[in-house]
Amino acid sequence: MLKSPDGGLRSVPFPIEDPERIPARRYYDQAFYDAEVEHLWPHVWQMACREEQLQDVGDWIEYENVGKSVIVVRTTSGVKAFHNACRHRGVPIAGGTTIGSSHATAHGNCAKSGFVCPFHGWRWNMDGENTLVYGKHLFSDRQLDADDINLIPCRAEVWGGCVWINHDDDAPSVKESLGPVADRLEAHNVQALRAEWAYGTVLPANWKIAMEAFMEGYHVMQTHPQLHKPMEGVYHDPFDPDVVLRKEGSANARRVAVEGVTSQQAVEMQKHHLALLSEGMAGMVHAKEVEIAKSVSHEGLSQDPNLAVPQWYGLVMKHISEGLRQRGEPVPDLLAVAQSDPINAVEFLFPHHFLLPIFSSMSAYRIRPLGPESCFFELWSLTFYPEGQEPDPVMEPIVLPFDSPEFPPIPRQDYSNIPIQQKGLHAKGFEFMRLSKDMEGLISNFQRILDGYLAGLPQEALAKAQHQLGGNFDGPIVELWG
Ligand code: FES
Ligand SMILES: [Fe+2]
Repeated sequence: MLKSPDGGLRSVPFPIEDPERIPARRYYDQAFYDAEVEHLWPHVWQMACREEQLQDVGDWIEYENVGKSVIVVRTTSGVKAFHNACRHRGVPIAGGTTIGSSHATAHGNCAKSGFVCPFHGWRWNMDGENTLVYGKHLFSDRQLDADDINLIPCRAEVWGGCVWINHDDDAPSVKESLGPVADRLEAHNVQALRAEWAYGTVLPANWKIAMEAFMEGYHVMQTHPQLHKPMEGVYHDPFDPDVVLRKEGSANARRVAVEGVTSQQAVEMQKHHLALLSEGMAGMVHAKEVEIAKSVSHEGLSQDPNLAVPQWYGLVMKHISEGLRQRGEPVPDLLAVAQSDPINAVEFLFPHHFLLPIFSSMSAYRIRPLGPESCFFELWSLTFYPEGQEPDPVMEPIVLPFDSPEFPPIPRQDYSNIPIQQKGLHAKGFEFMRLSKDMEGLISNFQRILDGYLAGLPQEALAKAQHQLGGNFDGPIVELWG
């Protein structure tokens, strides 16, 4: 709950007063949406593009969110970003993308041509300096001061293989905002990953509804039964309070006591599970990693399946690291980083980016609102490539209807819930979502930090609260402002 000792904070529409209850109106009320547009998005680091999309000097890409377009460009002196409006009469100097359309991401190269406004042809170089005004003599001198007609810079930072932009010059850096999770992801060489494919879709749901479908594993049993079934009859109900949940290294799926099977059978089930995850996501656990995992035998492992499974995972990490490094891929020593810098199977990077690492490869998501009840959801498969063998960068997502059979099966299952949940929120008498305090804590923590932005808490306090989101997937509701 937000207190305002100095009376200086804004009031939040439909605020979270009980951390276990999220008011339904936050997901469709126009005033709440407008508050986010005004007080959240202009102050946070937004994942604007993947760094590899700006390979050569002059490469540019447009990033738009909540009506604000920014051009990100690789210059001879690093990556820069500019607000996308001609200094004459405001036409976007490049792109003008319609998010959610089949061409969701405008891009090009300006090394030779610079940027040319399509309306009256004013020009700028890649550093945003104006290089041409047609008919200069037609304007008063004071209208054409050099500084005044250069493109307006936007803050941009490169971190973790992505370019991030922020409209707020006072916000802490990307790394300071993310906190310790950034160091852990760096230890996993996240900056060297490359996209092998990208999909996008418009979901008829509030952006937070779409995001929150990926903030807990509580839904796996019902929504992704194929991922749950291999455990039935062998594993205890993972939600049984008598079962002690353990986390094991970076492959930290919740695993629970195994009964009535041999070590060999337990290992075979893990192989099957990894293959289902890999096929279900068309990545995350990359097919090449599944191949290696399948080749790792149960022989020599403990007779006790509860010991054999973590032993086997350790061996799989070792073999993946060694096998892929031999091919020249910049894979970290997975076993070492699982000890030194363990990361979660889902890492949420506030406010709208996710990384889902299991071994070396990852899935990634980015979600942007298109209105109170619509959003654009993108997903990437990220993996390592040997140096010099990287594929051409994926410049645009393949945009499909959310119910397209072309989506990998797991996101398709998630997408089947999201639009209907949005409908359910409007039901008479449905005032709030009730959250598990132990497993759906990330939703509450995320939403309460959002309230912090809407209320106008100091950036320092907001960043400190965000640090608690690292590793919070499937975790508890926490005290944020203490
Ligand atoms: S609006 Fe850009 S040159 Fe006129
Ligand atoms: Fe899911």
